[in-house]
Parts: sequence; C-alpha cells; structure tokens
Amino acid sequence: KQTIRDLDFNGKKALVRVDFNVPQTKGGDVSDDRRIRAALPTLTHILDHGGALILVSHLGRPTGDPAADAPFKMDRVAARLSELIGRPVQKADDTVGPDAQAKCAALKQGEVVVLENVRFNTGEKKGDPDFARQLAGLADCYVNDAFGTCHRDEASMVAVPEQYPAESRAIGFLVEKELTILDQLLGKPKPPMVAVMGGAKVSDKIGVIESLLKKVDRLLIGGAMTYTFLKAQGHEIGKSRCEHDRLDVARKLLELGGDKIVLPQDHLVTTSIDPKEAKTSVVEGPDLPADQIGIDIGPKTAARYAEIIKGAGTVVWNGPMGKFEDEPFRQGTLTVAQAMASSPAVTAVGGGETAEAVEQFGLAEKVSHVSTGGGAFLEALEGKAFNSLGVIPDRG
Ligand code: 3PG
Repeated sequence: KQTIRDLDFNGKKALVRVDFNVPQTKGGDVSDDRRIRAALPTLTHILDHGGALILVSHLGRPTGDPAADAPFKMDRVAARLSELIGRPVQKADDTVGPDAQAKCAALKQGEVVVLENVRFNTGEKKGDPDFARQLAGLADCYVNDAFGTCHRDEASMVAVPEQYPAESRAIGFLVEKELTILDQLLGKPKPPMVAVMGGAKVSDKIGVIESLLKKVDRLLIGGAMTYTFLKAQGHEIGKSRCEHDRLDVARKLLELGGDKIVLPQDHLVTTSIDPKEAKTSVVEGPDLPADQIGIDIGPKTAARYAEIIKGAGTVVWNGPMGKFEDEPFRQGTLTVAQAMASSPAVTAVGGGETAEAVEQFGLAEKVSHVSTGGGAFLEALEGKAFNSLGVIPDRG
C-alpha cells in the first residue's frame, strides 16, 4: 500500500478523506475530539511538506431534511480542528458546489479548508461517479486517513480515489497505524489470545465472534448480550435485555465456541436502570430472579476476567461489560479496563463506546492501541475486505 511518505505534496492540494464523524452534544458541539486528534499526524505531515489541505468527511447520518440535518454541518468540527492544529481553518458551505470550488481554487500552500458534510450530497451514498469526479477535481492528490469509514463503499472512500492515478493516492498515518495493529492482532498474535466482547446485542457481533473463535484461546462475554446467551442455555434472566429472535444464533455460537466461551458467573442486578432509583445487588450463578435486570458483570466475574487478561499475550476488547455511563453500573467495565491497562499483553480496544470508557477512565495511554474505528474495527477483526484504496485486511 502506498503511504503518504511516498507522495510529493510540495505545491499540491491534497484531498484528505478523514473520519470526523465525532460524538456531539445535543446542541451539536463536539463532545469527543479523539478522531480529529488522531488525524493530526497526517495533516501536519502534508502541511510541513509544502501541501495545502482540502478535508472531506461525513458527520452523522443526515436525512435530507435541512432543519434536522443542521447539527451535522461541519462548522464546529472545523473550529475544533483549527484549535487543535493551531492555524486558521476555512469552512466551505458546500462540498463540491460554488463555495467549495472557489475556496479550493484560491487555496495556497499551508492553508486548510474543510468541505461541508459529504453526506449532504446524494451522490456520496450511491458512490456516484459524477459526484466523485467533481470532488476529485478539487485537488491534485488523494489521501485516505478515515479508518473509521473504511468499511463503507461511499463515493469519497472508493469512487473518488479511483479518479486519481495510482501514484497520486495513498493512505495516511492513522490508517497505516490501525492496519499495523490489526496485523498484530490477526497475523501471529502472541498467545494466549483473549477476546472480550460486550455490548447490548449478539446480533451486532455474530460475524466477529464466529471469526474470533477461530483465533482466540478464550472469549469473555459481558454486557447485555450475556442474557441472550444465558436465555439460549435455558436460564432464567428476569427482566434483563434479551434478543429473543437470536436465541438460535446464540446457541450456535455457544456450540461453536465450546470451552473457549466464558460467560459471567455472577451479575450486578437492579430493579431499575435509572441510576437514581437503582437498588443493586449481586446474584451468583446463571439464573436471575424474576424482577431483576442484569446491568453489569458481578465482582467475581470481573476479578476472573482481569486475571485472564493479565495472563494473556494478546487481548482485543469491544463492548462495555455493563451500563458504564452510570456510576452505579460502572465497576465491571472499569475492572476490565484497569486489567487491560496493567496487562503485559498487546492490548487493543475498539468501538466507540469501549474507547469512550477507556478514555473516561484515563487509561487510553496505558493500553497498546485504542482504535478510532467502530464498525470498521469489527469488520476488520472479522477479516472482511475493505474496498477503499486497497485497504484490505488479508490475514488468513
Ligand atoms: C463510524 O462512526 O463508525 C463511522 O464514522 C461510519 O459511520 P456510519 O456508520 O454512519 O457509516
């Protein structure tokens, strides 16, 4: 794969596809700028080598209704980038329209412009070649540094780079770094390899669990998906969340995984998921009382998982162990995060919520890698190919 080290940016305008699809507050402010910070090495490299930057990203999932889509305009993202990169950042009011064209035409060495949300254009989702030509026409070369979007075949990811000759397109440092760690995880991971899978739904993780079962020595389960697995085994799960239409899949995965799959041996339960009304207690064993909701892994499970993580050679973690955003339900996720941070293993965390938890606990610097990918990280772990720029995770 060609990287930005191979491109000459001097006097050139580079169209950089970034993933600035950042979490926002209800009012539309940037609430977590991790993805913007993660793109900085690529952006400063291009500027330091005499280039100018035209940045393109999506933000959210616009519907086409201008009022509802207003929070998805890129203005606040551009403002945050300007603070982080320490130089002025222009913002175009469209993606390929007159404002973008004028601003890109006038762009000089060392200058930066952020185009309007690429998903405001119907051509983006459709991979429309005309739209791709217009976007590519704004710049001399193309860089993909949008790891979080690499699993999408949208125009700015696939059709746009195809508009450039091979020598004028490359992957950026973030994509390179993410692929390197995925190589480490899936190529020849240091044994024993452990996966920690949490989150609400089994249905989101079927493919990745199936694939990981071929690689790992242990797969530790947490989060609300625990209760779909326990129900599939015939246990009482009280009022816990459960995907009743996925019990067969859960049973199949349990059969496939055999002894590799570890389910919680105790649970933190509550009568209300509202943290203010929560009365929590710990239930041992796989059966929950009829009026209780499983909300986090219990202390014995957390201690056991921590032990397994500390003894591993490689650990990959996706999905919180409980409803960690509320203090009373945080401990299981915190214990796992602390074990990841203090383990001598290669430790990788992926997925929006899990990365957020690790950040919130102040442990992001202590794990080997926090991926900027959510769906992209899971699909890469699953071994799926990406069509963007030959960014293909190909490890047997
Ligand atoms: C993500 O946050 O996973 C990426 O930015 C992709 O966003 P999407 O799921 O809306 O395509």
